[in-house]
Amino acid sequence: MRDWKRLTGTVADVDVEWDVPASRLNTFRVGGTVRCVAHPRTEGSLKNLLKALKAEGLPWSILGNGSNVLLPDGVWDHMVVLLDRCSGRLEWPQRDGRSGTVRVGAGMKLAQLLRMCVRHGWSGLEFLAGIPATVGGAVIMNAGTRTGSVEDVLERVRFLDETLDERTATRSELSMGYRSGGIPGGAVVLEAEFRVVAEHPRLIAQKIAGLMRERHRSQPWRWPSAGCVFKNPPGRSAGALIDQAGFKGYRVGDAEVSLLHANWIVNRGRATRDDVLCVIRTVRDGVRDRFGVDLELEVRVLE
Ligand code: EPU
Repeated sequence: MRDWKRLTGTVADVDVEWDVPASRLNTFRVGGTVRCVAHPRTEGSLKNLLKALKAEGLPWSILGNGSNVLLPDGVWDHMVVLLDRCSGRLEWPQRDGRSGTVRVGAGMKLAQLLRMCVRHGWSGLEFLAGIPATVGGAVIMNAGTRTGSVEDVLERVRFLDETLDERTATRSELSMGYRSGGIPGGAVVLEAEFRVVAEHPRLIAQKIAGLMRERHRSQPWRWPSAGCVFKNPPGRSAGALIDQAGFKGYRVGDAEVSLLHANWIVNRGRATRDDVLCVIRTVRDGVRDRFGVDLELEVRVLE
C-alpha cells in the first residue's frame, strides 16, 4: 500500500477521506474501495496537491459526478481528487443585458446549475437536463444529447495543463467533437463560460420538464447505470445495433443490458466491475460478428 498519509500531510487545505466505498463515487454503483479521496478547498491547494502527486509519481484521477466511469473492484490504491469544495463558484452576466456568459466552476453539478438558471431566468443550457455530470466532466466529454452539446454553448474554458500551468482557451481554439471536448490530455478543467440568454423562468422550467419526460420514457432511470455505454458509430445508433443483435436483457451477475434501451447497462443489485466488463465484451463481440461494426466505449474504465 502506498504512503498516502505522508503526502497528504504536506499539503494544506485539503480534506481527505480514507477507504471510501467506490459505489459512492460513481453512478453505476460498482467497484471496491478507494484508498484515498481528496477534496482540495481552494484552487491553490488543488495545484499544490497535484504538484506533490506528480513529484512522488503517485496515481490519481479527477472525478466529477462519476457518471461515465467504471472504478476497479477490490482495494484501489489510488487517489481520487474531487473539485466539489474548491470549484463550485458561479457568476451571472449583468442583469441589464438580454444575453451574456455565465461563468461556473468545474465542480458544480449540472443539475444545480440548471436549477439556478431557472431561478435567475437564463436560458440556453436546458439540453443539459438529466445529464448526471459536473461542469468539468461535461466540458471534458463535450456532453450532450440530440438537442445540443456543450460545444454549442461553450465560450471559454480555464484549466491547468499537464505541467500545472493555468491556461484559458476559447471555444474556437479547442477542436471539440462528438463526446470529446478537445481539452489537452492530462488537463484539469477549473472553470467554464457558457452563453445564455434571458428568458422567463417558467418557460425554462417547462422546457427542462419536457426533455426530462422524454428521457424517462426512453431510458432506464430506475437502476444505477453510467448512461450510454458505447458511442454511436458515425451515422448509426449503438442502441439499435445492440438491440438488433438480440442483447436486451443479457446479464452477467447483476449487470444487465437494459430492456428499455440496449446501449445502457444497468446494475440490478450488486454488479461488480468484472460483471459489467464481461457484458461489454460480449456485446461488442456480438455486434462485430453480426454487423461488422466496432463499438467504441464512451464509459472510461479506470485502472
Ligand atoms: N433504439 C433501438 N433500441 C434500443 C435503443 C434505441 O432501436 O434499445 C433506437 C431508437 O429507437 C432510435 C435510435 O436507436 O431510433 C437512437 O436511440 P435514442 O433516441 O435513444 O438515442 P441514442 O443515440 O441512443 C443519444 C445519446 C444519449 C442521449 C440521447 C438523447 C449517445 C451514445 N447517446 O442516445 O446520451 O441521452 O441521445 O438525446 O450519443 C449518454 O451519452 O450517456 C447518453 C445517455
